[in-house]
Amino acid sequence: MSKPGSSTKRPETRIVTAGRSPFEHHGLVNPPVYHASTILHRTVDALENRGQPYTYGRRLTPTIAALENAICDLEGGAGTVLCPSGLQACTLAILSLVASGDHLLVTDSVYGPTRNFCDKTLARFGVTTTYFDPYAGAGIEKLIRPNTSAIFTESPGSLTFEVQDIPAITKAAQARNIPVILDNTWATPLFFDAIGHGADLSVMAATKYIVGHSDAMLGTVTANAKYLKQLRDTHGNLGLCVGPDDIYLGQRGLRTLAVRLKQHQQTALQLAEWLRARPEVERVLHPALPGDPGHAIWKRDFKGASGLFAIELKPCSKAAVGAMLDHMELFGMGWSWGGYESLIVPGKPHRTATSFEHKGPLIRIHAGLEAAEDLIADLDAGLGRLKKAG
Ligand SMILES: Cc1ncc(COP(=O)(O)O)c(C=O)c1O
Repeated sequence: MSKPGSSTKRPETRIVTAGRSPFEHHGLVNPPVYHASTILHRTVDALENRGQPYTYGRRLTPTIAALENAICDLEGGAGTVLCPSGLQACTLAILSLVASGDHLLVTDSVYGPTRNFCDKTLARFGVTTTYFDPYAGAGIEKLIRPNTSAIFTESPGSLTFEVQDIPAITKAAQARNIPVILDNTWATPLFFDAIGHGADLSVMAATKYIVGHSDAMLGTVTANAKYLKQLRDTHGNLGLCVGPDDIYLGQRGLRTLAVRLKQHQQTALQLAEWLRARPEVERVLHPALPGDPGHAIWKRDFKGASGLFAIELKPCSKAAVGAMLDHMELFGMGWSWGGYESLIVPGKPHRTATSFEHKGPLIRIHAGLEAAEDLIADLDAGLGRLKKAG
């Protein structure tokens, strides 16, 4: 099995080879799935001295190791841990860095449940949170307090799509020895090198593009060498582990990530450009479109754009939005994204540090792997219903 970070091959190759060693498993292409709680030791010495790599099902199995190694290889980190959901990966990354009395800086564009964790759970343990403008960049420096112990970023925001200047933020943070966490679910390491751009911990809701088939919940946190021990200790102390079959689904999804992402990107851009020309649409929020406020930084730092973006409709009634969305043929309505199927949902940004100005309703779209022409026909019919309903 290739060791994390040991391969010099391109990412598209590494997602195929990482975490696999067929001839250790009778030539089988895919690593076997080990179901385990108890793991036996031959001697008291082995039991007491942990002389074997696998000691208990919650701690590590070859199934866990295979996906951890593959993700770590792709992220270019020092180590990866798996979590039962993407939200758990976000909360674990934070918990591994903060203590009672600390202060946390979090982007105002953060995924809502991550915000809830900070406001409701962390607050109970005496950790205070300040939300910052996603476009703060180097200006984050002014918000750092003596007790600031971590900065949480998400780029782009998964509802409003602001691209953050991660190199500027990490530079300011490093000058004060403060670790930066990045929720990199949208881009994945294929489109944004989180650790290479200075993030100390890279988080993914692997539920989305890694699993890719809307059939499992999974999260990953990868750390650089400086923060790996505290990440692993916190993960172990919380007793986090993922069922082997869900890990396998993550691993299977990973193998096709590069081709899926390229297609999601292409289809999303086709839809975004088509929508931009529609009279019912006020604006399209997609960092890969020239003119988008985040475009310059996206172009500088990212290698691609995934399939998730949003539109602001011209002001219209709630009933008109219902007329459009309730009868879509191909687009499903569900609170997720990253799977092979297209999704569409209304979005309500929650802000406390900044305001997100929008006169008309915000609609979030995930471009799946259906033919773009069919998706456009579905959107066309939907916008027709919207217009008719007023
Ligand atoms: C940006 C982002 N981070 C984290 C999560 C949480 O992932 P999960 O649903 O696997 O808990 C989501 C889910 O939508 C998300 O969009």
